[in-house]
Amino acid sequence: MKIKHFKMDQDFSYEEIWQVFRLARELKEKQKRKEPHQLLRGKSLAMIFQKPSTRTRVSFEVAMTQLGGHALYLSAPDLQLGRGETIADTAKVLSRYVDAIMARVFAHQDIVVLAQNSTVPVINGLSDEFHPCQALTDLFTIWEKYGSLKGLTLTFVGDGDNNVTNSLFLFCARLGVNFRVGCPKKYQTRPEILEMAKKDMKKNEVKIEILNDPKEAVKNADIIYTDTWVSMGRKDVKKREKDLSPYQVNKKLISLANENVKVMHCLPAHRNQEITDEVMDGPHSIIFDQAENRLHVQKALLVFLLTKFN
Ligand code: CP
Ligand code: NVA
Repeated sequence: MKIKHFKMDQDFSYEEIWQVFRLARELKEKQKRKEPHQLLRGKSLAMIFQKPSTRTRVSFEVAMTQLGGHALYLSAPDLQLGRGETIADTAKVLSRYVDAIMARVFAHQDIVVLAQNSTVPVINGLSDEFHPCQALTDLFTIWEKYGSLKGLTLTFVGDGDNNVTNSLFLFCARLGVNFRVGCPKKYQTRPEILEMAKKDMKKNEVKIEILNDPKEAVKNADIIYTDTWVSMGRKDVKKREKDLSPYQVNKKLISLANENVKVMHCLPAHRNQEITDEVMDGPHSIIFDQAENRLHVQKALLVFLLTKFN
């Protein structure tokens, strides 16, 4: 049986991403028109969480319900994983019961081991390295707002070395979006992530710039994106808040970008730290449309993985 996992961004080719985007648009329209689209009737999704979640948990669960299937929320400490059962055995057993597994983990290697031992598709619902469901949704949202992707410039301001930045960077390179990071030297995107995107950057003539001046980074940007300064599991809270405070996305900063710049945030936000209330709730923000799209894009992702590869 042919199965496909979504462990990280690069598991999907350019064509596969566009198949998911087109399907997401179709399913979103169907839902808005209240047309039935129960494409996963009788299917089950196991959702393992090692970390908290609002959007990922709710959007995947509702996605399965709207598609006619069922999702199970499994908090990792409450599973036998908490008593030392291995990830590999958990994957072997769960894949005898369910049709797909979504997991949010600390170590990305846990996703890799789940996928190696699962006979059903495994989806990364966030690891310390990548957040591919988020980036897939983000690029879909940008496409929806701008009508195209190639040639746009996205500037990420803040922690340039986290899961969301890594995934955005890889998808931007694959889809032809110029990517800039405005971050302090200590928080720069790691060379191994840049290396992963090298081929796509060349093929798509994508411009990548890592800058330390946030003002310089947002010049002529079409999209400004930010995320928390302290990702889940990070301990150096005070230090990060101090180091990253010059990188706040506020009205003054966005006035330096394109006039119609769109502002994005994966959420949850720490209001008035990485982003001010004024920007988050202001006319440039597409943050809550972005959050809604997690549902539509993940519905398409589930249909794609469960029907095209099974
Ligand atoms: N953006 C995101 O993944 O949100 P949650 O942590 O609430 O799932
Ligand atoms: N970078 C953030 C994303 C939260 C959705 C974190 O890992 O906490």
